[in-house]
Amino acid sequence: MVPGDLAQALTLSESANWNQTAADWQRVLDLAESFCIELDGRIVASATAMVYGHRELAWIGMVLTLPEYRGRGLASTLVQASLDYCSDVACVKLDATEAGAPVYRKFGFEDECIVERWARPANAPAVLSDLTAGGEPDLSLDRQAFGVDRLQLLASFPNTCAIDGAFLMHRPGRQAAQIGPCVAQSPERAESLANWAVADYPQTPMFWDLFETHAAARSLAHSLRFAPSRRLLRMSLAGRNIPQDPSLVYAMSGFEFG
Ligand SMILES: CC(C)(COP(=O)(O)OP(=O)(O)OC[C@H]1O[C@@H](n2cnc3c(N)ncnc32)[C@H](O)[C@@H]1OP(=O)(O)O)[C@@H](O)C(=O)NCCC(=O)NCCS
Repeated sequence: MVPGDLAQALTLSESANWNQTAADWQRVLDLAESFCIELDGRIVASATAMVYGHRELAWIGMVLTLPEYRGRGLASTLVQASLDYCSDVACVKLDATEAGAPVYRKFGFEDECIVERWARPANAPAVLSDLTAGGEPDLSLDRQAFGVDRLQLLASFPNTCAIDGAFLMHRPGRQAAQIGPCVAQSPERAESLANWAVADYPQTPMFWDLFETHAAARSLAHSLRFAPSRRLLRMSLAGRNIPQDPSLVYAMSGFEFG
């Protein structure tokens, strides 16, 4: 895909009722290798591969086929293209929807864990925070959490707050503002950062993607009136993994980035 494909890319994710805005797709097109299939004069399917660090980790995302073109092998073709592109990458992961998981299993992806999207309704009570945007994320803490450097991705997010290196980023979305990534050494720091993010979006629905097993993140999300809304399956290519520390991850960046 090339920058001029932005409008058609957005049509694809809107057709699946996903949350990405034009700015989100722009980020993907800028940072990831993006593949598409054109049929009947338009883009009808996509897949993207975001490579991190020194080709140590790749994240497959934005696997989409327009509804009227499904079941013809288009997504499979694009997943194969993405995997060919990632053939020298140590570890390949993704977050799969129920529709996507059978496609990935054919290529050797195995189940790793459940990730959940929590949603906060627009009419939830306002939250106050005395924090303001700014501060420097601790990049070594992020590397410990995520396993590899993802400096370019972090730099691409519009709003960041950091306290003692713990950090949270947030961004607008098509249906809901998105919290994440949030990496923190303690629930207390994550709480202050989450309050800051939620205070920034009065009367706006919000999404927060977290590990199902992260009790502290769940409890914090719950206290801020988020509730579970979707479950996805984190999958990784068999036999190719890297050390990560999910206990530090209070919010993921999004299903397309990990
Ligand atoms: C998931 C999706 C990308 C599949 O696209 P597609 O172009 O229809 O996929 P393919 O034609 O390559 O199908 C691949 C295989 O998965 C199977 N499959 C596809 N959709 C399926 C579904 N909803 N449930 C179960 N199996 C499914 C097909 O039977 C096919 O198997 P086969 O090759 O053995 O016949 C498409 O349904 C879609 O865009 N869904 C909405 C967005 C989404 O959930 N994307 C996945 C993100 S992880």
